[in-house]
Amino acid sequence: MEKKKNTVKEKKLEAINAYWEKHCTCGLREGAIQAVPGNGDADAQILFIGEAPGKKEDFEGIPFIGSAGKFLSEMLASIHLKREDIFITNVVKYRPPENRDPSPEEKEACRQWLVDQVKSIDPVLIVTLGRHAMENFIPDRKISEIHGKTFCMTFPDLGMRNFFCLYHPAAALYNGGLREALKKDFKKIPRLLRKIQKEKNSVTN
Ligand code: URA
Repeated sequence: MEKKKNTVKEKKLEAINAYWEKHCTCGLREGAIQAVPGNGDADAQILFIGEAPGKKEDFEGIPFIGSAGKFLSEMLASIHLKREDIFITNVVKYRPPENRDPSPEEKEACRQWLVDQVKSIDPVLIVTLGRHAMENFIPDRKISEIHGKTFCMTFPDLGMRNFFCLYHPAAALYNGGLREALKKDFKKIPRLLRKIQKEKNSVTN
């Protein structure tokens, strides 16, 4: 995926992250080493959203660099993408102690940060990884029922967005059934992206 760097978007995203690193009121800040705002292409067509940074991510300040991240990179390679082609972030930007689930308050405290990132990157497709990321946008549904499916949702703060829900790579690492489902769902991404882009072009032309 060869493309020119959009430095305006890069600068905007840097400013968003710098602002929220100062002003985020999430209670997880206290116990974390640092914020993990996300990384990748600020002008990406696909935005991946995970749950929360783990120990390694907290230490390095980069999301998905542990075993789940390695598996994610392998799946990206299976559809001819690299980490640099996408942007990846989490619902909460700080590590929960002992990697527990983030609380509703913690998710809420990080929500505007994520909203600002989504609006700046303006991706064609948002891929949610796991239950927490899915519930953030598509509540009251079960991941076992909606993984591998596409949703077009409209939000007052985000406008209309396309979502594709996947199992979390960490969960899939230790469960053969989930791993196969995740690999199969992942393969749908290129076609889905082309379909959404085609629809977008036919509206704008
Ligand atoms: N799991 C996540 O959800 N996010 C990370 O950054 C790492 C592991």
